[in-house]
Amino acid sequence: MIERILPPPVRSAHALDDPSDAPLFPGEAELVATAVAKRRAEFTTVRHCARTALAELGIPPGPILRGERGAPIWPRGIVGSLTHCAGYRAAAVARDTEVTGIGVDAEVHGPLPDGVLDLVSLPEERDHLAALAAKHPETWWERLLFSAKESVYKVWFPRTGEWLGFEEATLTFTPDTGEFTARLLRPGPFGTLTGRFLVADGIVLTAIVL
Ligand SMILES: CC(C)(COP(=O)(O)OP(=O)(O)OC[C@H]1O[C@@H](n2cnc3c(N)ncnc32)[C@H](O)[C@@H]1OP(=O)(O)O)[C@@H](O)C(=O)NCCC(=O)NCCS
Repeated sequence: MIERILPPPVRSAHALDDPSDAPLFPGEAELVATAVAKRRAEFTTVRHCARTALAELGIPPGPILRGERGAPIWPRGIVGSLTHCAGYRAAAVARDTEVTGIGVDAEVHGPLPDGVLDLVSLPEERDHLAALAAKHPETWWERLLFSAKESVYKVWFPRTGEWLGFEEATLTFTPDTGEFTARLLRPGPFGTLTGRFLVADGIVLTAIVL
């Protein structure tokens, strides 16, 4: 599914459930040694997806560990991003000679928990979501906003090594093209980022490819 919003240099793989025979590689098991079963399962499956996608680039299977603040550590010459939510796991990778950053995020399509929208959006974004909802009431735009901001963070952090708050980018969605733009309100390497979104089979997907 996620391949529908990724350009050709990016290879991806996804899973709708957790294969029982997906292995963990050296160093990975320690990262989830004390985790609950659900966390171990998503961690294992998304790495299985990543190794599948990396194989398409000719990269042999190896561990995908967690670096600073949880960002995945990719083989030399590779950029990528991982995501998991109930019923969906996905990995997207590319060679760094073709793509300089990737952020992908999946969420279950539905409303945000009470009170969360106010924490993750700016007033102008809430106005924008209301206008979108008036035209496209079948879509939970607040969930798309949340997902797109997570994708922004997943390209921002590996480049800067810095935190980015939800109030530090303002997003706009264009339903006709399936694109969104994120205007960064904090000085840094990006002025505006463009991404793509998709809602299908009960899942919200967003992706930014640099
Ligand atoms: C890190 C974060 C974006 C992950 O998103 P999520 O919806 O909770 O979880 P997802 O399943 O989609 O993604 C999890 C994966 O993100 C990746 N990830 C975690 N921290 C990361 C970071 N700092 N940079 C890049 N990727 C990161 C990891 O690969 C992780 O999978 P793993 O733990 O199995 O290795 C989120 O937890 C977070 O901290 N958000 C706050 C910052 C933010 O979003 N700001 C908005 C700026 S506009």
